[in-house]
Amino acid sequence: MQLLDGKQTAEQIKAEIAQQVAEIKAAGGKVPHLAAILVGNDGASETYVNAKVLDCEQVGFDSTLIRLPEDVSEAALLAEIAKLNENDDIDGFIVQVPLPAHIDETRVTLTIDPAKDVDGFSPASVGRMCLSLPTFISATPNGIMELLKRYKVETSGKHCVVVGRSNIVGTPMSILMSRNSNPGNSTVTLVHSRTPNMVEVCRSADILIVAIGKPDFVTGDMVKDGAVVIDVGITRVPDETRPRGFRLTGDVDFASVSEKCSFITPVPGGVGPMTRASLLQNTLKAQQLRGQF
Ligand code: GUN
Repeated sequence: MQLLDGKQTAEQIKAEIAQQVAEIKAAGGKVPHLAAILVGNDGASETYVNAKVLDCEQVGFDSTLIRLPEDVSEAALLAEIAKLNENDDIDGFIVQVPLPAHIDETRVTLTIDPAKDVDGFSPASVGRMCLSLPTFISATPNGIMELLKRYKVETSGKHCVVVGRSNIVGTPMSILMSRNSNPGNSTVTLVHSRTPNMVEVCRSADILIVAIGKPDFVTGDMVKDGAVVIDVGITRVPDETRPRGFRLTGDVDFASVSEKCSFITPVPGGVGPMTRASLLQNTLKAQQLRGQF
C-alpha cells in the first residue's frame, strides 16, 4: 500500500505557484489577488478562510478578507459580490459556505462573475466543466485529479465508484472521472443514500472515492484487493485524549482498508491540503485567463 501524500504534493504545488509569482513580479506584472467573503462567525468557516488567506501569503498572492455580520441582508451580500465582480484588481473570489439560512446560496453563486468564480460553484462553471471547456473546477475534485495525475494512477478503463452526490464533490468528481481526459476515461458509478446494493458496488471499484461525511463508513470488507481509495471525509470526532478535544476522522476506516488497497489518502494530510492548493491554482488561472471567458 502506498500513501497518496496530499500534504507533500500540496507543498510542491505551492512552491511551483510561488515560483510563477516570482516570475510575474520580475516581469513587472500584477500579482494574483484572491478575495474571500465570510458571513458570520462559524468556527470551522473562520478556520478555513484564515487558512486560505495564509496560503495566499505563502505563495505571494494578494488577498482581501471581507467579513460581514451573520444578519447581513441578502441584498447587501449581493451588492458586495457585485463590487468584487467590478473590481479590476480582484482576479478571483469566493463566498464561504454555508451561509445563514436567510440567504439563498443559489442566488449568490448566480451573482458571481464566472470569470472570477475560483470556487467553480456557479452553473456556468459546472456546465463548462461538463463540456471540458476552460473553466474553474471546484477545489476538492480538482485536488483529487491533481493527486491522481502526479502519482500516475492509471484511471483509463477502470471502474470508478464515487460515494456521495454533493454539488461540491461527488457530482463533479463523477463527471471528471468519466471525461475523455487523463486522469479520467473511467467507467463511473455514483452511489448515494438510495442505492440499495452500495456495499456490492463499492467492492467492484478499482478506484473508490468517498465523500459522504460519515466517519469510518467504508470498511475493509467493502474494498477490492488492490483498489485505489480516496477519502474526502474530514469529521471532528470528540476525543478527550487530544489537546483540542477532538480528532479528525475520514469516511474510510484506514486500519482495515489500508491492508487491502494499493493507494490510499490519509486523513488528515490527504485530500484537505490538495483542496487548499487547488484554490491557489484556480486564482492563478483566473489571472491568466482574464478576458477569455
Ligand atoms: N465551505 C466548505 N468548503 C468550501 C469551499 O471549497 N468553498 C467555499 N466557498 N466554501 C466552502
